Amino acid sequence: MREIQTINACRLLSGNPVMILTTSLHERYNAMPLSWAMPCSQEPPCIAISLTPSQHTYHVLRETGEFVLNIPNRRMLNRVHALGKATGRHRDKLSELMWPTRFGRFVRAPYLTDCLAHIECQVQSHQTVGDRRLFVAQVMVACADAEAFDTHWTEQADTLHYLGGNEYLCQGKILYATDQTEDLKREAGGGLDLFLRPIEDLN
Ligand SMILES: Cc1cc2nc3c(=O)[nH]c(=O)nc-3n(C[C@H](O)[C@H](O)[C@H](O)COP(=O)(O)O)c2cc1C
Repeated sequence: MREIQTINACRLLSGNPVMILTTSLHERYNAMPLSWAMPCSQEPPCIAISLTPSQHTYHVLRETGEFVLNIPNRRMLNRVHALGKATGRHRDKLSELMWPTRFGRFVRAPYLTDCLAHIECQVQSHQTVGDRRLFVAQVMVACADAEAFDTHWTEQADTLHYLGGNEYLCQGKILYATDQTEDLKREAGGGLDLFLRPIEDLN
């Protein structure tokens, strides 16, 4: 993983990969998958994301204005999907899935150490658009896996692209996420009990 020029950070969004938005509030971490995002300024580099106000992440962002966008790969498919089916309002989804985190340089939100890339962002403004809230955030620093991204994604990049339901596209092939406990356990390295309980469906 190496730091990339912030001006290239917007290219991490090319092809619209699924991202995991991580936050921290009062030292409690949270994460949600996100696919409604786009670059909206090159200088300074800015990214717009669209959030549903009922989500816990929305309330955290209103309070802290800081987040990290992490770009997962194919290996993380089932965990990404599971993060989208439960709220972090009363539970710590990341530690229950045993997802390794670390703090970055600029924002007080953790990043996921094993993702293909992460972008530290600071909210500049937000406004209501229909039933959503659109947050515009400035890129503070960005890092990417050197094999998967040079100044753009390479053929090695196995990013996920959300199609809807439990379907994702990865390198031209459709993958189906599962919430079967055994698959989640295998991905997370065993030992988790979160998804032994039924996952509440928010959407
Ligand atoms: C692949 C995927 C992409 C998603 N993209 C978005 C999105 O762009 N905006 C949004 O508001 N919700 C999106 N969601 C739904 C949230 O991730 C979901 O409601 C999540 O449980 C919210 O978690 P929280 O309550 O802990 O913040 C997506 C879900 C999935 C599975």
